Amino acid sequence: MFEHISRLEPDAILGLMAQYRADPHPRKVDLGVGVFRDLNGDTPVLDCVRHAEQRVLAAQSSKSYVGAAGREEFNTGVEELVLGKEHPARLESRARTVQAPGGCGALRVGAELIRTATPAATVHVSTPTWGNHHALLGGSGMSLVRYPYYDPATHRVDFAAMLEHLDTAPAGDVVLLHACCHNPTGADLTPAQWDELIELLQRRRLVPFLDLAYQGFGDDLEGDAEGIRRVARRLPEVLIATSYSKNLGLYRERVGALIVVSATGAHAAAVHSQVLQIARSIYSMPPDHGAAIAACIFADSSLRAAWTLELTAMRRRIQQMRLLLAQHLREAGGGDAFDFIQTERGMFSLLGVPKAVVERLRDSHHIYMTQDSRMNLAGIMPQNVRYVAQSIVAAGALA
Ligand code: LMR
Repeated sequence: MFEHISRLEPDAILGLMAQYRADPHPRKVDLGVGVFRDLNGDTPVLDCVRHAEQRVLAAQSSKSYVGAAGREEFNTGVEELVLGKEHPARLESRARTVQAPGGCGALRVGAELIRTATPAATVHVSTPTWGNHHALLGGSGMSLVRYPYYDPATHRVDFAAMLEHLDTAPAGDVVLLHACCHNPTGADLTPAQWDELIELLQRRRLVPFLDLAYQGFGDDLEGDAEGIRRVARRLPEVLIATSYSKNLGLYRERVGALIVVSATGAHAAAVHSQVLQIARSIYSMPPDHGAAIAACIFADSSLRAAWTLELTAMRRRIQQMRLLLAQHLREAGGGDAFDFIQTERGMFSLLGVPKAVVERLRDSHHIYMTQDSRMNLAGIMPQNVRYVAQSIVAAGALA
């Protein structure tokens, strides 16, 4: 049976993670996989998570099944965090949320739901986008096309080109949008651009599918949800995949959720039944431990306040590293060519260099980033920033 299957190359991001781990060089720098790192290079368990975990374990009396939708109090907490308590979609019972195994699980369940509802629809994804979007959405059998999003020459969103493409999409097609902290570019839409985009989505009757993996890494928890809230106020049908890997640091616990907003409460009930069936047919039920921790933090005001402080500290650390790297790149001879790094948002920026430079940085300088030259700014630290900046210039980034 297996004699006809070929061996695949490792996943671009996970393969890089393994390469970095195997490199014994003492000065190696990991700008690859998107995990937060503190000033020691560690990805710590948040204090609020440690406290909540103790409470969860102390209160736990059973390991029996929870169900395909996961924890109710988690799902309510997610909706409040993403849409806000008083959002019309919630008040009108048009929003339904299910816990999922990470943002990836939510994206896949969302894709399966779209395929069930409208098999002929195409999903439009940004150029570039997070590498795994193609596998997660395309794996459901949906066809994907790309829309222009980022102009590498200006390091900004090419909004006119994006609108021009979407203005030709057939009604009923789906548009995958990064809700904040675009991965891999760090280039986000402005509030005015969100409004213009919403107008187009409404006019062309397109369905937005929003990926919210970095809530709190751009402005703050509220500000980063603003685009989503506006979209869900104006459009009848919206899908949202959200993840607590980054903002709660629950990466390996696989904590995420799919929120689906429908036009009426009756449609929402039908959608919910389909989502439960899809979940059941893929993984049956989501893992509970991480979601129990998250739910405990969402519901407890002191844990929630502690989380907000820890999240603010993570965001600020990355913002400071953006400033520091741009400054060191200037000092290393890069002029203002890399100043754009200062103003982009979230964990990532695209350095904007050819693959050969990325490979030289890895092979000669032990600095790891994905082949598209995406850098995780949380891998930059005061103790390695000069080395990274000098290596980038020495590897021929300006050539
Ligand atoms: C990333 O973009 O590096 C992270 O979201 C980790 C992953 O699963 O790819």
